[in-house]
Amino acid sequence: MRKIIIDTDPGIDDAAALTIALNNLELKVEMLSTVAGNVNLDYTTENAKKILDFFEKDTPLAKGNSLPILREYEDASQFHGETGMNGFDFPESSRKLLPKHAAVEIKNRILAGEEKVTLVTIGPLTNVALLLSMYPEVKPKIEEIVIMGGSTIGGNTNTSAEFNIKVDPHAAQMVINSGLPITIFGLRVTTRALLTRTDIEKVKSLGRAGEMLYSLFTHYRGGDLDQAGLMMHDICTICYLLKPEIFKFQETQMEVAVEGPAAGTTVADLAGRYTAAKNVKLAVEIDQKQFRDWVLAEISQLK
Ligand code: RIB
Ligand code: CA
Repeated sequence: MRKIIIDTDPGIDDAAALTIALNNLELKVEMLSTVAGNVNLDYTTENAKKILDFFEKDTPLAKGNSLPILREYEDASQFHGETGMNGFDFPESSRKLLPKHAAVEIKNRILAGEEKVTLVTIGPLTNVALLLSMYPEVKPKIEEIVIMGGSTIGGNTNTSAEFNIKVDPHAAQMVINSGLPITIFGLRVTTRALLTRTDIEKVKSLGRAGEMLYSLFTHYRGGDLDQAGLMMHDICTICYLLKPEIFKFQETQMEVAVEGPAAGTTVADLAGRYTAAKNVKLAVEIDQKQFRDWVLAEISQLK
């Protein structure tokens, strides 16, 4: 079992990614941590509690940063609804959080274990940047950082910046230049990780988890259900851990613009024209049908 820690801002596509990760026997989710992103930190944390309650998991949960490191916080509630998981009536949660900030709790968890841990980030990178900055001693115990974020094909917040990176570009720049193995899924691939109306109708028939996800998906504005389909950005990170062969990658040097109108834009030297350095493994292709089939198979196996 691969040990992973997921930092998340649920968020409807986050909820789907967490659903698969928490229930797949090849993954050991050591803990979850929440960050302000799609919606504010209180909502993302309550949403993470509700997902853990829904699947009756005892996975530890830590609350992280309510604000980006330097920039003013902006949310994406227009895509996920005011609560971040509009569409399904989860019961209120009485789950207790780990006592300290996510960066401290992730550090404690990484240093306590014998084996290396993979960090999976499916929201802004604030918590992970703070972790690496405050506790660099964790780095030898991190196998890889798998990121949903960035774009080499234009933005989804403006013409150039993808949301997770735009919310906290300073954090993103710190993480991708940490020297750790970075695998990054940007919009070039995640906007092609699509579930169509036909797929969503199949999800509806896949047990209580399928009904819950169907309710969320019908309220998710990340794509057009009756055209190309809904973009399952965050699921790409989990799919990579379990079925990497459906993606193709290119190693490249990526930098993040941190100030001005281009803040949050990720720039990749894909032609290798400006430097021999390569700090990330960038996903460049996805087998769309295999992705769809895999998502439906994963959900169909849930209890
Ligand atoms: O740009 C897509 C990313 O922003 C996804 O992680 C989605 O959940 C939002 O956080
Ligand atoms: Ca997310």
